[in-house]
Amino acid sequence: MEKLKFIKPTKEYEEAAYEYIQEFNDYNSNINGTGGLHRYMQHYDEWLQKLEQDRKATEDRVPAETFMLIRESDNRILGMVNIRLGLNKALLQHGGNIGYSVRPTERKKGYNTYQLYCALQFCKEQGLDKVLLTCKKDNVGSSKTIQHYGGILENEFFDSSDGSITLRYWIDVEEGLKIGAKQYKDKQKVLK
Ligand SMILES: CC(C)(COP(=O)(O)OP(=O)(O)OC[C@H]1O[C@@H](n2cnc3c(N)ncnc32)[C@H](O)[C@@H]1OP(=O)(O)O)[C@@H](O)C(=O)NCCC(=O)NCCS
Repeated sequence: MEKLKFIKPTKEYEEAAYEYIQEFNDYNSNINGTGGLHRYMQHYDEWLQKLEQDRKATEDRVPAETFMLIRESDNRILGMVNIRLGLNKALLQHGGNIGYSVRPTERKKGYNTYQLYCALQFCKEQGLDKVLLTCKKDNVGSSKTIQHYGGILENEFFDSSDGSITLRYWIDVEEGLKIGAKQYKDKQKVLK
């Protein structure tokens, strides 16, 4: 069975982290959920320190935690997730509690569905009952992942700056975890 781990970033993954970001650049893909890693290329230690800061609330920032989804067989970072443990005015409108990405060459294999399950487990540990996730209407991979865990659409809104439509969904953490627990009883069956 393929072994995966969902971990907080450590020094060990420095090269793998650069390689992760490089792949998004190569494929000209959007990057989400990395805790700003793409702004710290070749400055991994500073990024780790930044993640330390992210854990603390400030006047305009809620505490946040960043995770990596690692495949144990090759130590490759498959995906990343950034979890905001609160919601301020800006996040309530756009961004929500959880942001994520899966590297371009590993998409459509179920990894995002799995890492959102791991993220929901962390949210439960942190005492969150429900979480907000937002995504662009044309981001089918993201909206399907959210809907998979019973995400309830609250509303959608038009962004005049780029003409896009953003969807806002709430996931009940307990309900989402029940869905994931059933699915990942035998992880091999799920990951294609
Ligand atoms: C969105 C993203 C995280 C999805 O990752 P992924 O690992 O491919 O997702 P999964 O394999 O778990 O797929 C989830 C579901 O979406 C479907 N899906 C994934 N990508 C899709 C696509 N491009 N078009 C249509 N369906 C798609 C999958 O088939 C799956 O559906 P199923 O449950 O019915 O089988 C990934 O495309 C990504 O990193 N995009 C760039 C960053 C981004 O957009 N982040 C989210 C911002 S809101």
